[in-house]
Parts: sequence; C-alpha cells; structure tokens
Amino acid sequence: MFKRTFLTLAVLLLTLPALADKGMWLPSLISSRIDDMRAKGFRLTAEDIYSINRASLKDAVVLFDGGCTGEFVSDEGLLLTNHHCGYDYIQAHSSLEHDYLTYGFWARSRAEELPNEGLNVRVLVRMEEVTDRIAAGESPEEICRKAEAEGKGYRASVEQMYYGNQQFLFLYEQFDDVRLVATPPSSIGKFGGDTDNWIWPRHTGDFSIFRVYAGKDNRPAPYSPENVPYRPARHFKISLRGIHEGDFTMIYGFPGNTQEYILSDAVAYIAERSDPAKIAIRTGRLEIISEAQAEDPELRIHYAAKHATIANAWKKWQGEMLGINRLGTVAKKRDYEERFAAWAADREEYRTVVAELKAEYARIADAYFAYELISETLAALPTSYDEEERAESCFERRRATEQALFEFLAAEYAARCPAPYLIPEFLDGLHTWGSPEAYARHLFEEVWSGEKSADAEALASGIKRMRSHIVWLLGTRSLRNLTSKRLNELYTRYIRGLREWDTQRAFFPDANLTLRVAYGSVAGYEYADGEYHKPQTTLDGIIAKDNPEIYDYDIPQQLRDLYASKEYGRWGITLDGRRTVPVCFLATNHTTGGNSGSPVINGRGELVGINFDRTWRSTMSDIEFDPEICRNIAVDIRYVLFVIDRIGGADYLFREMDFVR
Ligand code: ARG
Ligand code: ASP
Repeated sequence: MFKRTFLTLAVLLLTLPALADKGMWLPSLISSRIDDMRAKGFRLTAEDIYSINRASLKDAVVLFDGGCTGEFVSDEGLLLTNHHCGYDYIQAHSSLEHDYLTYGFWARSRAEELPNEGLNVRVLVRMEEVTDRIAAGESPEEICRKAEAEGKGYRASVEQMYYGNQQFLFLYEQFDDVRLVATPPSSIGKFGGDTDNWIWPRHTGDFSIFRVYAGKDNRPAPYSPENVPYRPARHFKISLRGIHEGDFTMIYGFPGNTQEYILSDAVAYIAERSDPAKIAIRTGRLEIISEAQAEDPELRIHYAAKHATIANAWKKWQGEMLGINRLGTVAKKRDYEERFAAWAADREEYRTVVAELKAEYARIADAYFAYELISETLAALPTSYDEEERAESCFERRRATEQALFEFLAAEYAARCPAPYLIPEFLDGLHTWGSPEAYARHLFEEVWSGEKSADAEALASGIKRMRSHIVWLLGTRSLRNLTSKRLNELYTRYIRGLREWDTQRAFFPDANLTLRVAYGSVAGYEYADGEYHKPQTTLDGIIAKDNPEIYDYDIPQQLRDLYASKEYGRWGITLDGRRTVPVCFLATNHTTGGNSGSPVINGRGELVGINFDRTWRSTMSDIEFDPEICRNIAVDIRYVLFVIDRIGGADYLFREMDFVR
C-alpha cells in the first residue's frame, strides 16, 4: 500500500513540469531570488554570484565582441565562447593556405596564438544604481566620466531598467588584446549549418577558444607582443560529472533584448503584421537564392553567408509568431491591461496611460511598418557591384538571380507599403516604367552595367529621406523595437503603475545587453502530441546525420574513425546501454540573443556547457516565456573537451584548466 502510494507520488513528481523559470535577473540584486534558486538545487550564495568585495563568478564572465558572452576557464586568461561568436575573426585568419574555417586551428604554443584587430572583451567591475544621482541632476555622461577615471581601460555606461524607472551604472574593464587559441573545423563548430539552426535534436560543437592578454600590471593594454596572459580574479571550474534531466542549471551572460512588458497592441503588431510580412518576403528571397545554389556549386558558396543571415531571423520569427498565437498572448495582455485600467480609474497618474499608449501605437504603426519594410526590401538591394565582386568567376552567372531579387523585392515593397509612406522617387519610377517589375529591371540593368545610375541614386536618397522622416516622426533613433520617444515616456509610467498594482508578479527588467542570471534545469519537452524530445544528444546522432553528399552534414573523417574504434577515452559515457559521447543538451533557462557563448553552470557553480541557441518554437520567450516549451540549447562541456583532445590533439590546454569530478 505504502509502496504503491510512494510509487504514484514518485511518478507524479517525475512528470511534473520542469522547474522552468522565467526571468533574467540583475546579479547585484540576486539575493531576492537566492532562496528560490537554492530550493531548486543551487548550492552557492548570492555573494558567490556577485560581489564587489571579493572574487565572484561575475569576474569569470565577459561581454565578447559587444554582442556575445564568453567565460574564463583558466587563471591565464583562457576564454570559451561559441564558434559562431568567433566566426568573423576565424574567417579573417583563413586563407586557401590556412583554411581554419574548414580544418580548424590549434595554437601549439602561446606564440602561435593569433591577435584579432577590433575584438575586445569586457569584464564587469561593478554595477550600481544611480537613479537618485540622476534625479539630483547629475547627467549620465558625468557619472560615466567619473567612473572611468577610476582605472585604466575602464568603460562605463548608464543603462535604463524598467523603461527608465531605474538607472544603473555599469563599469567595465575593457581588454583589446584577445587572441585566437583554437577552433574546431566548421564541420564540427557549425555542424548542421542552417538546416539545424534553431532545431532540436542538435549536434553542433559550437565553441571556439580565445585568450585575453594584459599589460604586466594585469591591466588592459593595446595589443603588444610584450603583453602577458590576463589573470582573471575568477575562472570556472569544469565539471566532468555531466548533466542529467532535472539538474539545476544557471546561465550567466549578456542577453540583448526582450520585450516582456509591451502592450497587447505591440504584440498584435508583431504577430499579425510585422512577422508575417517579413517572413513572406524572406521566404521569397530564400527561394530565389536557394534555386541558384542548387543549380551551381559556386553560387552555393557565394550565397552561403547571405543565406545564413536571412534564414536565421526568418526561422526565429516563424517560431515567435506561432508561439504568440498558440499562447494567446494578445488576448491575455488585453485582459491584463483592462484589469489594470480598472484599478487605475481613480489614480490620476495612471488613469489614462493605457489609452495613451494605444493612441500612440495607432499613430506610429504604419510609419514603423514602412520603416521595417524598407529594410527588408529596397535597402536589401545592392546599389553597386564593386570591382572585387565583378572579378569573381561566378559574377556573370549571378545575373539572373540578382535580377530576380530586384524584381521580387520591388514588387513586395509596392504591394505592402502603406500609401502615405511610399517613397516619392519610387512612385516616380513606377509611373515611368508602368510596373514595379519593369522599374526594378531598369534599375537592375543600370546597377549591373557598372555605370553611374541616376535613377538608382535617386531611389537611394529617397530611401534615406523616408527613413529620417520616420525617425523624426517617432522622435527616436532606437528603432529596434516598435517604439517612439512618447512611447518610452508612457512606458515609464505604465511599468511604475504595474509594479504598484501587480504585487504578486516577479518583475525583472527587460534584457538590454547587461549582465544577467537566468536559472532553470536540464529538461526535454513534448514537441508534439505523444512526441517527447529527450534533453541530451550524442555522437551516435552525429553519425546518423553524417552524409558526405550534404555540406551541412559532412563530418571530419577523424570523427568517423573515432566512432568506429570507440576510442573515446575518458570522454565516453554509457547511455541507455550504449557507449557514446555526449554532445548537446536542452535546459529551461530564459535566454535570448547575446546569451550565445554564456556559461551553463551546475548547482555547484561549475561549468557544464556553453549556451548557443534556442529551439525555434521557444523564440516567443522574448515576449512571453512559456515554461512548457521554451528551451535553450547548450553544447555539453564534455563534447568540447572531447573535440579539443581527440580532434585537435590539444590536450595541453587541459593543464591550465581545473576539472572537478
Ligand atoms: N540561432 C543562433 C543565434 O541566433 C545561432 C546562429 C548562428 N548559426 C547559424 N547556423 N546561422 O544566434
Ligand atoms: N543564437 C543566439 C545568440 O547568438 C542565442 C539565442 O537567440 O538564443 O546569441
């Protein structure tokens, strides 16, 4: 009897939804979450995560190249991040003789490490609320100037939280001498390419290794052969114990942009207007490009990077739209806003704020849509083909593809742009040539010929003028989200009101590329009715996908040989009775763009993986996080070590790492 109850209970516990956690928390305020974190398996303290009095985990996390995250794994400045975060620099070092993209790169000594112009990393010195100082009249510039005077290489910025309800100073130490130490071949680091991007099950070894150098005083210094490896105040220990479903995970990194608190009107704009239009336009572009790629191997390579960039957001938007619709986010938010408005009815400060926000969206939506449309269509067309491009052997064979893109994008622009925001020069062209296609063909012929085209130049300046007109109308340059100066002011008030009214809600400030903590657990999910996706992939899955005929799935021969011989050494595990190597895993952490390269940490604060993606159906988490569906994707640190050891033959790097069992 007891046994049965116990069993039922155990089964119940096992099938409870994963310990998913919405939120990206400010590390300096993490003490408000620490009890919850500890209840879910975290064993360290708030001071271990962030402290200004002693070394803490924050000292081991860096903002990498202004848009990704990286983490120190040795006391000699050794840094891990994603392959896709280091990609531009790896590419810049690659040539036909030294094709590091194809074959990988493993520096055999410090002298072989490769400097990277323009690459920097930032370590957070401290963060500090400065709301009161700003209220008292100090300007953000003054605050930054004072802070930067505190130390060599210090960079400061003041960032808004909750639409300006709080202001924080972020003071960083910026290092400009960052060298490439190692990268796997793209057939590992980018395995699955665009086909697998945003997809689970995933098998990408998305990592690369850098080293930060400093002056002899351990302070930032411009590149010099005299520089020495930076000694971070803290680096991550690496867990060899691995992960299991249900294990606590924490992600420490620099998420770029979320919109948790936007009005239902803005969500409707995204899911019903903006995403569908942008997806349709990109579908058409990708079809034209893919057709050329399928017919001509040289064009496949030529358009590869372009295809990847277009497809990344294209897939993400599809997941976002689907997720928002499935969750009914618009209706839920509308109801929430109505309840707030009812509460606010007799509060002067908030009484009209929802109505004012709605009115502002109505005012700017068409203009903002026109702005987005220009970026997706006309501005995506070349205004010239430079000498270098013309010299490429495939240039002439691109002609039909390029012309088709001109015609398609011009037609999309003409069909979709709200009339008041149609560019006058474009209208003139339509008038003269009779149809968008005919006008586009004319423009294309002129641009292709290489002569100066008066009509293309007229259109380019028309685009410029329309864009600045819309910037003026919205009163802001930051057009990344549907926003205006007025909206920002209203949101300051709205969020203040929400926090007064909705006292049960766990508010966290939207991501804005400042350091955050997200926590959750390793977990699979129900992908479709009756179809459960396990949270761990293995080398066996790579072998199953392996296909020398398909570029994205053509693995190095070494990996095939290792699989055949099963010589996995200490990286082998036994899973479901078979001998294999772990590759990627899923977890429930709330992440977004910028979290790529972030350390995934277990309950003891040890490194178990490197974050690099989400599943495409998770991407509505930028607006609404759904614990049932939203999963981040990490590369298992044991796979990283396996590749370093068995593919790179670079196990000398292990000497400076700290492994824990
Ligand atoms: N989806 C990931 C992110 O948004 C990875 C992108 C790079 N990988 C690729 N195959 N394009 O950054
Ligand atoms: N792939 C993204 C990045 O590069 C991460 C994400 O959007 O989940 O930051």
